Amino acid sequence: MTHPCPHAALHDPRFHADPQAVLQRLRDTHGPVVPVELEPGVRAWLVIDYTIITAWCRDTRTFSRDARRWRDWRAGRVRDDARVVPMMAYRPNAMFADGDRHLRLRRAVTDALGRAEAHRIAADARGFAHRLIDGFCARGRADLLADYARQLPLLVLTRLVGFGDNAGRRLAEAVRGMWDGTDAERANAAYERTLSEAVTAKSARPGDDVLSRLMAHDAGLSREEVLHHLVLILGIGDESTANLIGNTMRLLLTDREFAADLAGSRVGIDDAVDRALWSDPPVTNFPVLYPVRDIELAGGRIIREGTPILLGLGAANRFLADQYRERIQETANRAHLAWGVGPHRCPAQDIARMIAGNGVEILVERLPELRLAVPESELRWRNSPFARALTALPVVFTPQPPERVREQAEQTATVPAAEGEPRHRDARADTGTEDPRGGARPSRPRRRDRWRRGR
Ligand code: HEM
Repeated sequence: MTHPCPHAALHDPRFHADPQAVLQRLRDTHGPVVPVELEPGVRAWLVIDYTIITAWCRDTRTFSRDARRWRDWRAGRVRDDARVVPMMAYRPNAMFADGDRHLRLRRAVTDALGRAEAHRIAADARGFAHRLIDGFCARGRADLLADYARQLPLLVLTRLVGFGDNAGRRLAEAVRGMWDGTDAERANAAYERTLSEAVTAKSARPGDDVLSRLMAHDAGLSREEVLHHLVLILGIGDESTANLIGNTMRLLLTDREFAADLAGSRVGIDDAVDRALWSDPPVTNFPVLYPVRDIELAGGRIIREGTPILLGLGAANRFLADQYRERIQETANRAHLAWGVGPHRCPAQDIARMIAGNGVEILVERLPELRLAVPESELRWRNSPFARALTALPVVFTPQPPERVREQAEQTATVPAAEGEPRHRDARADTGTEDPRGGARPSRPRRRDRWRRGR
């Protein structure tokens, strides 16, 4: 693709069709830090080199996270209603904090998340995954994003945080508007209003959940700080985990070689998730650094103090992978930058992996004959400057009965009723993982003919 502008226009759908080709050309001209435009008139830099990202993220003396330093916004050259403002403007949470303030806020959020029990998150992810698949498996076709990937993390995370499903759904819609910059100001207002109502409700009835732990933490978070950490957990966390499921499924459905490795157990689901985190990390061109003084690049170009520098995590991964392809695949397959790097590195990657890994695994086990419903070339990427995310992932498969119907049918066939017992034994009475559908889900061997989790 050719682009007349010397900047990469991250708001242009043509950029998202093949970002690496655009960035390779700009890299040839500008080197590893390239000029970008986030929306017409909003300029920034994008750093696309692995080593430089790593060094700059760790250099907290030179690079701040505090968006109140954004010089064009300070000077009124970027208006408050610009599409990228809800994602980039300062919020009182860990992502935008430096130094001691960052330590204080990060401690609160990692403590609140860390006390969540892994087995409960995994059980929720698996239970909700089955429930969602039950909703479409008899149809023989689905949009894996709308019907599955966008719902699963939201269900798990809103429960983890301590919200009901309705608040979760309203939040998810607003979050998508913020990432894409579609009616972003209104989306942001709706988001903050919903969160604020939920925080008020939770203050009256605290429980064993992330929100209650954040409110009670000895770091003494203000109500506003609590609210903006929820924006972070549900805004970044939900949206990114959804896109990780989508990007991993796309990989499995389009990369025949990889799918064959998976079928032959040479790789597992976790490797597929990491492969997607290398090639299409859901958080890309984000977050943002602000130099506290002018920076001189090789060749004499200057980045002025307070100019946004976006982290090109996806591009950096791909350039590195191209350079060291053999070694990365064999030895360092988790060295990608998808979780960020340095003191702000994502504190919830285990949670995200648990939701995405279980989500992908259950999907491919239950629907082993999944295939794309359209040619790969018809898949479209969303026009978000900050996310690597598909618009839809249409698939077809042989229709399957919902899980509970199938289990009951199997048991009717195999379990003779003992005298005095009802003829149809309830599957939920089996021992197994807790199931948010309303009972225990039996742990029984699943089909592993085409896809496997372990190596
Ligand atoms: C696939 C899913 C996810 C991806 C790819 C992802 C990626 C990231 C990235 C790139 C950052 C910024 C790192 C930096 O500034 O250097 C980040 C920060 C953060 N993420 Fe995640 N994340 C995901 C899921 C989650 C989830 C599920 C949660 C919460 C439950 C979460 C909570 C956070 C928090 C609190 C921060 C701010 C940390 C800080 O500034 O100290 N993330 N994440």
